[in-house]
Amino acid sequence: MPQRSTPVQFTTIRKNPETVMADTLVVGLHPDLRLTGVFQDLDRLLNRPVQEWLKSRGFEARTGQLLSGPAPAGSRVQEVLFVGLGKPGKLSRRRFRGILGSVMERLVRSGNHSVVNTLTALPLEGMSAAWRIRQAVEATHDALYRFTECRGTGGAQALPPRLEKIHLVLGPDAGSEVGIRQAIRDGQAIAQGVRLCRDLGNRPPNLATPRHLATEARKLAAQNPRFRVRILTEKEMGSLGMNALLAVAQGSAEPPRLIVLEYRGSHSRQAPIALVGKGITFDSGGISIKPAAAMDEMKFDMCGAASVLGTLQTVSLLDLPLHVVGVIAAAENMPGGRAVKPGDIVRSLSGQTVEILNTDAEGRLVLCDAMTYVQRNYKPRVLLDAATLTGACVVALGHHPSGLFSNHEGLARDFEKAAEDAVDPVWRMPLWEDYQDALSSNFADFANIGGRDAGAITAACFLWRFVSEVPWIHLDIAGTAWKTGAQKGATGRPVPLFSQYLLDQARAAH
Ligand code: BES
Ligand code: MN
Ligand code: ZN
Repeated sequence: MPQRSTPVQFTTIRKNPETVMADTLVVGLHPDLRLTGVFQDLDRLLNRPVQEWLKSRGFEARTGQLLSGPAPAGSRVQEVLFVGLGKPGKLSRRRFRGILGSVMERLVRSGNHSVVNTLTALPLEGMSAAWRIRQAVEATHDALYRFTECRGTGGAQALPPRLEKIHLVLGPDAGSEVGIRQAIRDGQAIAQGVRLCRDLGNRPPNLATPRHLATEARKLAAQNPRFRVRILTEKEMGSLGMNALLAVAQGSAEPPRLIVLEYRGSHSRQAPIALVGKGITFDSGGISIKPAAAMDEMKFDMCGAASVLGTLQTVSLLDLPLHVVGVIAAAENMPGGRAVKPGDIVRSLSGQTVEILNTDAEGRLVLCDAMTYVQRNYKPRVLLDAATLTGACVVALGHHPSGLFSNHEGLARDFEKAAEDAVDPVWRMPLWEDYQDALSSNFADFANIGGRDAGAITAACFLWRFVSEVPWIHLDIAGTAWKTGAQKGATGRPVPLFSQYLLDQARAAH
């Protein structure tokens, strides 16, 4: 389903940005309102009269401040968009990416066809030229994203974005053409992974069922001969003993699926990196049913799964020389005559028994069997999972960072660094044995819920019981995988983070 007829094009230029013909020239300024470096001629065109003009319009170059002005005489653009960058040396990478995003959104909204973006030329502390270029590419795709596949013929339709050409201006620190071209390719591949993740997340739950996720995995696998896909049905999962996962699915008319998508990009018999995603295609809560308000948003409860497919899309587009196995635990959580009940006890694939005290704590039940499965069958060197696991994580951290839990210091640090580089932030949460007592059960090995306190941590502790001697990261993405309110929709996170970690792995080894 192509969403646009003409894909956006990126080119780079090294000097004289004012000589390029385009609708808008984007210019970043610090509070001294001075243009520097590559903009010698731009400087001549803009500097003195424009500084007066900006001041008279109240433009102080506060971080994120935007002001559109007329094109200077002698330039070939229609308008100049001035962007405030705040004090030099004070701009964080998160803030810079935010500015790129709001600039691109504004240009898309105003129906721009072509842009000369000089923000990528700015020498900013802690941000390499390649990094700035990649961020500009990703921010452009994010701003252009629309989910239109479910629109009919009725109702007022917003005009589709018209942005076609982006000229990214390179600064003196740009270095080789090869590095810059790779940065654009990386950005494009990550953007496509993000887009797949957003599309799957946004799709309504009557379409995006466990079987649909299996079809999407097969479609992805068909794009690259390095993929092998295996889909386990209910029956197969039953004979293996994945009773925790099956318990969640048994109240629904939609059959569950365990989706295994293996990518072999390295010839070595190296152990894979395993990516496990929570794929609850709708979480009603089951018998422990949720309140009606905003229940529609529980279609996003498969965003962990969507991020696994999105990340594999990126890995495949970049042909990364890695061995990766993605596993998706896909099920619908519904009440019904056959649904699992509070008090039911199930034997998980690991052999540990679980007393299900709350059927709304279903994510951990599907994940634990998927985690046991991938560890037994693939002996991964690293185990990563992403799950919209707990409302408690949203209470703790809000919507900015994902919660990061890990049993391995080195891996946790690698992830914190990747999160910074990808501008897909995480915040480390404690994973301590002390919290395990909360899960004790009078009737089974343990229960699927702790008390009211520390809900995100006790959920992670539940998963931890299914991790055997492998460096592991659990990402609770309940607050970051989608937005609510007027901007309601999937964000594509944590595809940028996973992709960055895998890029780092691929490029460290070669
Ligand atoms: N999918 C939800 C978590 C969730 C809730 C994410 C709201 C984003 C917004 C998960 O399955 C769930 O229901 N968790 C329960 C756990 C509780 C029963 C221990 C929760 O967070 O309330
Ligand atoms: Mn739930
Ligand atoms: Zn859930």
